[in-house]
Amino acid sequence: MSEQVAIILAAGVSSRMNTQMAKVLHEVCGRPMLAYVFDACRKVGVSKIYVVVGFSAEQVQERFKDCDDIVWVRQEQQLGTAHAVMCCKEYLKDFKGQTLVLCGDGPLIRAETLKTLAKKHKIGQPAVTLATAILDNPAGYGRIIRDAYGNIQGIVEDSDCTSEQSAIKEVNPSYYLFNNKILFETLEKVKPDNIKKEYYLTDALSLIIETGHTVVAITAVRPEEAMGVNSRRELSVACKIMQQRIQQELMENGVTIVDPDNTWIDARAQIGQDTVIEPFTYIHGEVKIGKGCRVGPFAYLRSGTVLENDVVLGVFTEVKNSTLADGVRTRHHSYIGDATVGRNVNIGAGSITANFDGEKISRTHIGNNCYIGSGSILVAPLELKDGSHISAGTVVSKENIDKLGQKD
Ligand code: UD1
Ligand code: MG
Repeated sequence: MSEQVAIILAAGVSSRMNTQMAKVLHEVCGRPMLAYVFDACRKVGVSKIYVVVGFSAEQVQERFKDCDDIVWVRQEQQLGTAHAVMCCKEYLKDFKGQTLVLCGDGPLIRAETLKTLAKKHKIGQPAVTLATAILDNPAGYGRIIRDAYGNIQGIVEDSDCTSEQSAIKEVNPSYYLFNNKILFETLEKVKPDNIKKEYYLTDALSLIIETGHTVVAITAVRPEEAMGVNSRRELSVACKIMQQRIQQELMENGVTIVDPDNTWIDARAQIGQDTVIEPFTYIHGEVKIGKGCRVGPFAYLRSGTVLENDVVLGVFTEVKNSTLADGVRTRHHSYIGDATVGRNVNIGAGSITANFDGEKISRTHIGNNCYIGSGSILVAPLELKDGSHISAGTVVSKENIDKLGQKD
């Protein structure tokens, strides 16, 4: 197949989200929704991603500044989705391949669906192939209009539907694969003849048909992945579905999640085989958990946490930016922040690292095979040698460390 690029629309103001932040930066399980759309595009091998930005454009560009496959395109005034695509004209007017057009507010997109779309498009090479979904409640989405033979005739936006059209359950999730040349030729003809006075990309379809080209629609999008996030409520629904996907994948990889409904795991977390996640565990950020660990109940793991293998992290323990080596046990009520904890260390109930002195954060290094008695406070910066034995209720700081049972 010829080269494929993607255009992602992400310039909208999003009044329904009621936010100062660009809608596409709102997070779904720890990652901006736009990141998931990029993932899907990359998985199907698009060569360049053109992202149309406008409202809070700087924020969006800053967030993804390290991605070198992205071309940022400005849409100064948000005049509609067709206008947004048109903003890419100067980059793509001579491009001969296929252009995938997607919305940045659809984080539940799956690469498999894009593959199905591309496969369908290959057959007969229509001017555009779009993937549709069937929804029980189609309100808010553009409706797919087909003739008596099932051929697609166009898309009507929700606000422009007649009552008959409103009842159509086949909707437009905004997954299109266009012949690039025909796309840009047609966009010139789109007019803002609708209730919102916007240039609708969806109007391009009937115009394409009028010029005698073919438009193909396949019902390939699962209802759950059709959702565009336009409000905080929809954001919470998208988070819930994404959370289920994350946990599903972890379980397939051999992780036990005792109570999926009462567990929250960030999309960036990695968890090894035969680790058990007990209920009410909250894993946020880039967290890496090895094999055979036991985490929770009521554990809170934050960014930068690495648990190697066979670590036990029990009730009401919080770990941040720390590495706990094989066999570490911290079973009850501890806080381990900015620390390196050696192999087979036992951290007693209620022990904490005091990593912040009011001005700066410092690190704590605990050697292998140490014993930290209950209720100890380890004042950072601190280094405990291998085999150190700290009695219960001790405040350990650099100043008093020599008096405590440190082995040379
Ligand atoms: C759009 C589709 C609708 C579809 C739905 C699926 C149109 C006209 N409608 O409606 O058929 O069912 O998505 O979620 O295409 N954007 C810009 N510039 C603009 C306007 C929008 O970049 O001038 C971006 C938005 O940031 C957003 C995307 O385009 O990421 C879609 O816009 P949105 O306002 O969410 O359209 P919907 O009403 O959801
Ligand atoms: Mg939308």
